[in-house]
This record gives sequence, structure tokens and C-alpha cells, in this order.
Amino acid sequence: MAHPELFTPIQLGGITLPNRIVVSPMCQYSADDGCMNDWHLIHLGSLAMSGAGLVVVEKTAVTREGRITHGCTGLYSEHSEAAMKRVIDACRRVTSNPIGIQLGHAGRKGSANVPWVGVQGLKPDESPWHTVAPSAISLGDGWPLPHELKIPELKKLVEAYVAAALRAKRIGFDAVELHSAHGYLLHQFLSPLSNQRSDAYGREPMKLPLEVAAAVREAWPKERALGARITGSDWIEGGLGPEDAVTYARELRRIGFDYVCVSSGGIAPQARIKVEPGYQVRFAEAVKKAVDIKVRAVGMIADPEQAQAIVASGSADMVAMARAFLDNPRWVWHAAERFGVRIDYPPQYARSRPDAWPGARLARSRSETA
Ligand SMILES: Cc1cc2nc3c(=O)[nH]c(=O)nc-3n(C[C@H](O)[C@H](O)[C@H](O)COP(=O)(O)O)c2cc1C
Repeated sequence: MAHPELFTPIQLGGITLPNRIVVSPMCQYSADDGCMNDWHLIHLGSLAMSGAGLVVVEKTAVTREGRITHGCTGLYSEHSEAAMKRVIDACRRVTSNPIGIQLGHAGRKGSANVPWVGVQGLKPDESPWHTVAPSAISLGDGWPLPHELKIPELKKLVEAYVAAALRAKRIGFDAVELHSAHGYLLHQFLSPLSNQRSDAYGREPMKLPLEVAAAVREAWPKERALGARITGSDWIEGGLGPEDAVTYARELRRIGFDYVCVSSGGIAPQARIKVEPGYQVRFAEAVKKAVDIKVRAVGMIADPEQAQAIVASGSADMVAMARAFLDNPRWVWHAAERFGVRIDYPPQYARSRPDAWPGARLARSRSETA
């Protein structure tokens, strides 16, 4: 096949990704008061070696109360910044590909247990904290009633995003991605299901997210990349839909954002989501058609041909994958092999190249029939 589009470089703001494959942000719920540790070093170190055009570090909280769980990473203190710098410096030693970070705030989804204990609010003996939200509406049964943020608190919140972005800049990240999907705080402002304020922040649901976006744009260098994860659908009657994603992406573009990743869901438990391969690609495509911004698709993308087709058809400029990379951190190497593309391996691992090791075919056919 001709050189596949999946393996062509793409420019995002001032940076260039060597290919269109992105490691989607993935919370590890393993930090200590926001600080990364050896788990993150090994996890991100392995993904840094993956050959993906961009690795996006997990949703990192801009304030302590903005964590989802006690185990979430943060960039709200000198300790958390230093701990993350140690990990990212180590990743830099194994890859020259760009590394980004997702900044977010859990809002009413905070004060939760780590998922392997159970997706639910912390009990009184589990050190819960007061959560915040646009309106005092809880996520559902068993979740804390959030405090409705007052206007001076919103100003502080914008400052917290900027402070975290400046910490990310000092650490040396190539990209910052604002999390405004999956039912977290910025999404809670955007969606009528969670924002029932009567002030300007309710009448104009994009007001706070765009204030955050503009302030972060101001603080984040133009020579790097700035993006956002946005919502293609709440999957609930009366919630956000693809046309809202288009409107929001257009505003982000106007502010100077370089890309959006179009995801969906998460605003409330009653959503009925039809999960199937590539189920969110049509949302990405709707944004791509309407807005002059680089677009990333995500969600149940796992097969190299499927990923290549999404990029080649112009539905999206990039694909992000999460679980496929947990399953197989060598996904990019194998996809390159499938398309006959020669990519750089770390020299220490070069002897596993299929052209250097006849066992490669055997290993692949074994794993495919397993
Ligand atoms: C372990 C895990 C942690 C995740 N953490 C985040 C996160 O920090 N931020 C985010 O936007 N999405 C997060 N997600 C969602 C993924 O980034 C991705 O959008 C979703 O898993 C669908 O893609 P996939 O089918 O390739 O897994 C997480 C997913 C997984 C599996």
C-alpha cells in the first residue's frame, strides 16, 4: 500500500507529531496527594517508548478538590510539580516524540473511590471532601451534594487552571489539553443537565469554559500545542449533542486552540450509550466538517485498518486509543509492520524488529489465535 495516512506527520500549533496515533489520557488513580510515583514512571515510560505520535498524560487536577479520587495526579503544589517532572524527564530520555498533559477538575464527580473499589462517592470514614459544581445538583444516589460555585470562586478557578498550565510549561510538556468532557467540571458548565444557574454563567453555558480556555491560551506558549477534549453527545434527551460540539470547537478555535478530541458521555448515570467500534467517530467528523481545527477521534478504536480508515477518509486528523495501548504498548510497531512502514525502535529493542527476527511472525500469529 502507498504510505498510509496514519503514519504521516501532523502539525499541532508549534509542534509536529511524527504520526497520527495518540495515547489517550488515562487516569491511573495511583498518585499520592497529587504526586506521581514509580507506577507512573513505569507506566508512562513504557508508553513513551510506544512510538505513538503523542502521549497524553492522564487528567491532572488543577486544584486538590478537583481530583476525582485520592489517587488522582495534580499540578497544584510544588511537590506534585517536582514529582511529575521526575517522571517526564525520564520519559524524555526514551523518546523524542511529543508528550502532552490533560488538565481538569472533577467538580461534582470528585470525592470518589478509585474504580477498582467501586465508582461511588467516598463514605464518611474514607476522607471525603466537599465537591463543587455550577449548580447544587448531585451526580446521583450515593454522590455528595456539590457546593454551587460563587462568582469569586470561578475567578479563582480560572487562576488555578493558569497556574497548573504554567507548572506544565516548566515541566516541559509539548501540549496541554483541557478536559471539558466526561462529565467533569467544564462539561458540567456546558451541559444543561448539570448547569441550572440563573446568572451569566448559566445563561451562557460556555462562559466559564471559554474564560478558562482564553486564560490558558494566554499563558501557554504558541510554539507548543493547545487542545481540548470535548463532548459530542450527552446521550440523554435535553443534553448536549454534536451541534453543541461544533459551536464549542468553533469558539475554541477563535481563542487560538489547535485541536479538539471529540468524546462523549459521563454527565449522568442515566445515559444510554451505544458502544460499538468507532462509535464516537461521527461526532469528530461533524466537528471536522464544520470547523477549521485539527480533530482527534477516540473510542473503541483498536484495529490498525480501522484507525487508518478514519484518518484516510478525513473523518478525523488523528486517532486516540486508550485500552488498546494498555493491552499492547507495541501497537504502533505492529501497525507499522502491517502497513510496511519502517519506524524507529529504541536501539535496545531493535533486535525484535520483524526484519531482524524471524520469530516475529510466529509470535504475532500465536497472539492472534490466542
Ligand atoms: C484506565 C482508563 C483511564 C482513563 N482516564 C481518562 C482520563 O484521564 N481522561 C480522559 O479524558 N479520558 C480517560 N479515559 C478515557 C479514554 O481516554 C478513552 O477516551 C476511552 O477509554 C475510549 O477509548 P478506548 O476505546 O480506546 O479505550 C480513561 C480510560 C481508561 C481505560
